[in-house]
Amino acid sequence: MLSTTTGAVNDAFIFIIAFCFLLFALIIFFTILFAVRYRRSRHPVAVDNPGSWRLEIAWIAAATVLVMIMFFYGLTGWSFLRVAPAGSLRVDVTARQWSWLFTYANGRKSTALVVPVGKDVALTLNSNDVIHGFFIPAYRIKQDTVPGMKTHAWFNATSLGSADILCTQYCGQEHSRMLTQVFVVPEDTYAKWLSGEDVDIPGLTS
Ligand code: CUA
Repeated sequence: MLSTTTGAVNDAFIFIIAFCFLLFALIIFFTILFAVRYRRSRHPVAVDNPGSWRLEIAWIAAATVLVMIMFFYGLTGWSFLRVAPAGSLRVDVTARQWSWLFTYANGRKSTALVVPVGKDVALTLNSNDVIHGFFIPAYRIKQDTVPGMKTHAWFNATSLGSADILCTQYCGQEHSRMLTQVFVVPEDTYAKWLSGEDVDIPGLTS
């Protein structure tokens, strides 16, 4: 797992998609079963089925419980994503046409995001011009940046390396090139980089 937020979103997604496949399989199974069992050669005369209120209540209850379980998974995942844990490392994110700017607690700025591995990182997002969308697909976090308004996102990267950052709102001519990366480095490397020391972070150019 690349980050704790990846896990939170994947749990809800996998649960919902698995149940959808299960329901799909059941529907196909009964469609074929009934088509064979009640085919014309075996059932030449149609019979009236008065229905069953027990069956009606049973499927309404089962469907309600299933939807509530999906809602529960969605809600817990969403709540987890919404509120950054206390003591998170804070980074301000400024979106502008057409690049990202990251400002750290000590005033250091960068155009790619650098974070220490295994730490909660809270992002406060803002935009200098139009609406942009901050998206790290690998971490499953996505948040619009709105001029004149602060929005929030957070993640905890659990493995070293880098991941892509995209803009997901059409924000003008260079929208598709409004890309950068997050670099996840060991804590001591992060401390050195933050204080302006010359450290080698593979792939990082600025
Ligand atoms: Cu910024 Cu699209």
